[in-house]
Amino acid sequence: MKRTILDAHVHLLMWKQQAEPDWNSVSQTLKVANFNELDAICITEHIEANAYEKLMLGLFCSNRLGGSTQGDGSVICNGVLVLPGAELHLANNMNIGVHADLETLLSLDRRASAYTLDTLHGLLEKRGRPFKLVAHHIFWPGKTCSDLEALKRCINAIEVPAKDLTNIHKYLTLASTLNLDTTGGSDSHSFISIGACKTLINEDNTHSPLTLKKWLHSHHTTHEPDRDSLRLTALARIHRQTDTERREP
Ligand code: FE2
Repeated sequence: MKRTILDAHVHLLMWKQQAEPDWNSVSQTLKVANFNELDAICITEHIEANAYEKLMLGLFCSNRLGGSTQGDGSVICNGVLVLPGAELHLANNMNIGVHADLETLLSLDRRASAYTLDTLHGLLEKRGRPFKLVAHHIFWPGKTCSDLEALKRCINAIEVPAKDLTNIHKYLTLASTLNLDTTGGSDSHSFISIGACKTLINEDNTHSPLTLKKWLHSHHTTHEPDRDSLRLTALARIHRQTDTERREP
């Protein structure tokens, strides 16, 4: 059985306010993803970020990193399969990972709070292309959703977030209650914590590599925290804080 390992929640912009992606930093982050033995990463960048479109078009259309385009909208860079995605802030303040082809992602309203869970799900269903919706760090303060019926209707998986592993039982209980898969995600904004919690896809059939289609149709995914996840997320937080202080002395 082939086991594919990915980080299903990765940002490649440090800040939403960035006007342009830092392509050198993006390239270094992908090298670290490869070093950390990730097969793939999902770029769930904040859709309302100023440079969202530039980042996604640069990665997947103009191939700024000189990767190997896969013909399905994904690209292999520095040995890692890079998959398109977005993180949306919904009207109820929960954050959701949208995994779909780039054309679908770029068709979405990029304003924060533009959708409810049901309106987003309905729109994607109507569009008729494969997609996967993942509830991101749903027990993070202010990001919760108590509407279990809506989650059951609309969500494919519950993320176990690297930055909230002390509450892992809450995420696992919710996934079990809703009979949903789990995914693992680092929510990294730099190279430091990429892969701090991983998603495992246990494929039962072939040794063929992961594709965007296989990811979007995957079932029975699970999570696996890195043994250094607490340290990595703490370092990443300090690194980001330091960057803030440098930018806003
Ligand atoms: Fe995020």
